Amino acid sequence: MAYFKVNGGVPLNGEVSVSGSKNAALPILCASVLADAPCRIENLPEIEDVKRLIEILTAMGATVECPESGVAVIDPSTIKDRRVSTEMATKLRASYYMLGSLLGRYGEAEVAEPGGCAIGQRPMDYHINGMRSLGADVIDRGGIIIARADELCGSDIFLDMASVGATINIMLAASRAKGKTTINNAAREPHVVDVANFLNAMGASIRGAGTDVIRINGREKLHGCTYAVIPDQIEAGTYMIAAAATKGNVVIKNLIPAHLEAISAKLMECGIDVVEGDSGSEFYIRVSAHDRPRPVNIRTLPYPGFPTDLQQPMTALLAISYGNSFITENLFEDRFNHVRELNRMGAHITVNGRTALVAGLEKLYGAEIHATDLRAGAAMIVAALMAEGESIIRNVHYIDRGYEHLVEKLCALGARIERVTE
Ligand code: EPZ
Repeated sequence: MAYFKVNGGVPLNGEVSVSGSKNAALPILCASVLADAPCRIENLPEIEDVKRLIEILTAMGATVECPESGVAVIDPSTIKDRRVSTEMATKLRASYYMLGSLLGRYGEAEVAEPGGCAIGQRPMDYHINGMRSLGADVIDRGGIIIARADELCGSDIFLDMASVGATINIMLAASRAKGKTTINNAAREPHVVDVANFLNAMGASIRGAGTDVIRINGREKLHGCTYAVIPDQIEAGTYMIAAAATKGNVVIKNLIPAHLEAISAKLMECGIDVVEGDSGSEFYIRVSAHDRPRPVNIRTLPYPGFPTDLQQPMTALLAISYGNSFITENLFEDRFNHVRELNRMGAHITVNGRTALVAGLEKLYGAEIHATDLRAGAAMIVAALMAEGESIIRNVHYIDRGYEHLVEKLCALGARIERVTE
């Protein structure tokens, strides 16, 4: 097993370039199954989740070539197995996007439910109800979702919650259904828009992505295309928070500032300097700080609200604020597992249901800490970088799922971090 050794207290300085979005790349790779010809997908992040999904596609029989780093060419015409096994689903939650793409392409799918994880139960009822609305027979047999449809027909769907996964899965199936589908109360995240743009590049007819009403005119066939994935808003936000926490001065490049408005606004409310810029070839955000942050209150919400995926790194930053901050996690029922690890570093955080009270103090101290999930791992990185002394961060496989070349990028910013393999 590997771990990270971090000597904290060093302000991050310099430039870092954002990689492709994990949460766009995964559904886009699944969406390529809907095409009747190969798709070339570019700007894929080199992270574990992408590698696992490519393994799953290959295991199903798709022909996948990776001619250069960050590029995959997928030919779904050789797919033989229309099932995603429990083993596959356990390896990668996002394999559940195969439900919409296999059903849309073949009229049948067998996809294991990934089940709960460290942040919550993660049910798929909105996904299943959406497929049924499109005319599929769907049964859940011992954690395996079995869906069949002689013909998918467009429908008017209303989501109980603006679920990212359900919005995308329904969009995938509806793109090849007969007739019109409307998704009401749709998720508006940038990665939802990116999947819609990819499908439209394949010849789909999707309008309204990025708003809470998405309209899809189903197409009988979809063709291949070449498409580049958008920059990862959560990776960008994580580096913005790390720059603030270490009182550094960092330019985060190759991002879309509009995707980061909630985190930029919250950091400015903390008294952090946040400046957006355009170098002519790409947008950037410069984050700099000379002091501890002011306390703020955070309520996570669906986009464009404050993203739940940055709640955990932000909790680490607020642990050294000049006062008390209240953080309310509205999206997931158990997304405070990072708190006990931060308290091991000297933080004063108490959790009551879905709200954490962060009593800010001057500094944290290095300790042996554990990543309990992907973004909790990001919180450990932020805390270790700003803490006084040495930290050991275990379970780094969680972090490898979603942050490309993390050690290299942080070392280029002056961080004293290394990966140690036991
Ligand atoms: C996506 O998960 C992301 N994952 C998550 O990022 C992110 O935290 C989440 O969206 C919210 O932005 C990927 O994109 C691969 P949801 P998803 O459906 O689609 C409940 C990361 O760190 N719900 O919007 O699963 C659900 O339990 C990951 O990159 C149902 O009840 O999120 C949750 O409480 C972590 N029934 C809420 O809705 C359903 O059928 C929001 O979930 C579906 C969801």
